[in-house]
Amino acid sequence: MPAMNIPNFVDKKKRGEKITMLTAYDYTMASLLDKAGVDGLLVGDSLGMVVQGKENTLPVTLEEMIYHAEMVARGAPSSLVVVDLPFPAQYLGLEKTIENAAKVLKKSSAQAVKIEVGADDAGVVKALSAAGIPVMAHCGLRPQAVHQMGGYKVHRDQKQLHTDVQAMEKAGAFAVVLECVPAAAASEISTQIAIPTIGIGAGTGCDGQILVIYDLLGIPDGNVPKHVKAYAALGEQIVAAVKDYCTDVRNGDFPTDDQTFV
Ligand code: KIV
Repeated sequence: MPAMNIPNFVDKKKRGEKITMLTAYDYTMASLLDKAGVDGLLVGDSLGMVVQGKENTLPVTLEEMIYHAEMVARGAPSSLVVVDLPFPAQYLGLEKTIENAAKVLKKSSAQAVKIEVGADDAGVVKALSAAGIPVMAHCGLRPQAVHQMGGYKVHRDQKQLHTDVQAMEKAGAFAVVLECVPAAAASEISTQIAIPTIGIGAGTGCDGQILVIYDLLGIPDGNVPKHVKAYAALGEQIVAAVKDYCTDVRNGDFPTDDQTFV
């Protein structure tokens, strides 16, 4: 499969082809998702929760993002690899944000960064784009603002959403993630802008979709949000497999002659 790049990714919208994205955090999973033909992999700061077991995404550091991005990029020769800039990326000043984003691309060989933004942050997106760093904007529910929002809530301010997304397109973002917004608003916005919208909890009218890989595989870490569809129940299968292994070891049934050197 030919490697995905930014122009090809954007052109999928022009051709009316839906874009597929998933999160990935390590080499092995990235290799499998790449092999399955997913268009883009996001090294999401959701790794703070699903990999590190933390309460939210705020504690994740730039070094941790780079550490995971390196592994994912190595495992994904065909997918577009996008890396989240961790909290509070958009408020560090332009120079520092460009320096951080450049560090991500230099060290990981990923192709783009994602940043949680509203219209007020258009300057950051413009500066990154001008520096040759492709930016995927993240609008709607912004998990890094969890304390401000008092939890994870559907973003219902449609006027603000339109303003934010249009500002992102104007600032040079190549795509925009719409998280937890009413489907009708996401659908309307998707027809109004030329860059692709990637939805998560934003209905079918978006130009593409993204899910957290553990959610898709049915490896839940507690409550499963409404927008998730589990395509497998690997969590249960993993527990069952490990229970079988423990039983075999305890009973002396593993290893057998097949797994033994003579
Ligand atoms: O961090 C993440 O995984 C994300 C996606 C859920 C869009 O931002």
